[in-house]
Amino acid sequence: MKSTRKVEVDPTVQQLFDLTGKTALITGGTGFLGRSLASALAEAGARVIVCSTSQERAESLAHQLTDPNSIGHLGLALNHMNEAGIDQAINSLQDKVSHIDILVNNGHEANPKDWTTVNGEEFTRQLANATGYFLLARRIRNLAVEANKSASILLLGSMYGLVASYPDCYDEICPASPPGYHALKGGIIHLTRHLAVYWAQDQVRVNCISPGPFPSDLAPEKLKARLVERVPLKRIGQPSELKGAVVYLASDASSYVTGHNLVVDGGWTAW
Ligand SMILES: NC(=O)c1ccc[n+]([C@@H]2O[C@H](COP(=O)([O-])OP(=O)(O)OC[C@H]3O[C@@H](n4cnc5c(N)ncnc54)[C@H](OP(=O)(O)O)[C@@H]3O)[C@@H](O)[C@H]2O)c1
Repeated sequence: MKSTRKVEVDPTVQQLFDLTGKTALITGGTGFLGRSLASALAEAGARVIVCSTSQERAESLAHQLTDPNSIGHLGLALNHMNEAGIDQAINSLQDKVSHIDILVNNGHEANPKDWTTVNGEEFTRQLANATGYFLLARRIRNLAVEANKSASILLLGSMYGLVASYPDCYDEICPASPPGYHALKGGIIHLTRHLAVYWAQDQVRVNCISPGPFPSDLAPEKLKARLVERVPLKRIGQPSELKGAVVYLASDASSYVTGHNLVVDGGWTAW
């Protein structure tokens, strides 16, 4: 007897990672890692909304991104430390973008002071980056629910949200990693889990990417050398080494993954 069962055809790997037809918004898109993350989303086919606190910088990078589907990337001024500003920025997209499928909360207002010098106001201000990540994530989740669509939300954590820094890496070179940064990134990793659970029923996945040591060219050479000593792979990370992680978590390749913290650290947290 002939079977009447419908044969499901597995999507190919290319289809799973393809972001054609999706719109992705990334904060801090002009930053050291943000540029590679934004490029990865564009190369995978997404329309990218590059955010910066400066409209000019955002537009400049948006125009530089590859555009395989000729859809036109956008630049958007967005300061995630300003609640009203987040809403205004997203509202301003209404006539230009029908839906935001992917959010990458990557921007970060930094404060380099370590535990010896930071004051209470500065510590609290650094934690407010998490408030911005949450408010923007909730706005994108609400828009997805209103449109009856799914969404993938990514938050940037850090290896320093999982482990303490080694004091001797910084000793006599520069201030140690800021205590507010550790509190912030540990909080972001856990915020990811909380939101993932509440929003799973809405088909909104929430995941975190935690980079390890990716110091920019501005970091002191001595510091980089000390960091390298602590990495099992014996080198610092290149921004392009985050491209696979962001496309994986943004795309259907990770359709059954939510609440996860994907660590990309050359093995730093493995020992
Ligand atoms: N590099 C590393 O080793 C490393 C390691 C672990 C985690 N991370 C995380 O990865 C993310 C990117 O880091 P990065 O190294 O690329 O730093 P970065 O070069 O300083 O980029 C961060 C970007 O955030 C934007 N920004 C600043 N204040 C903002 C605000 N109030 N609202 C929205 N955006 C704001 C800035 O862009 P504009 O000035 O154009 O607005 C800046 O370029 C951060 O969340 C960081 O904590 C980095």
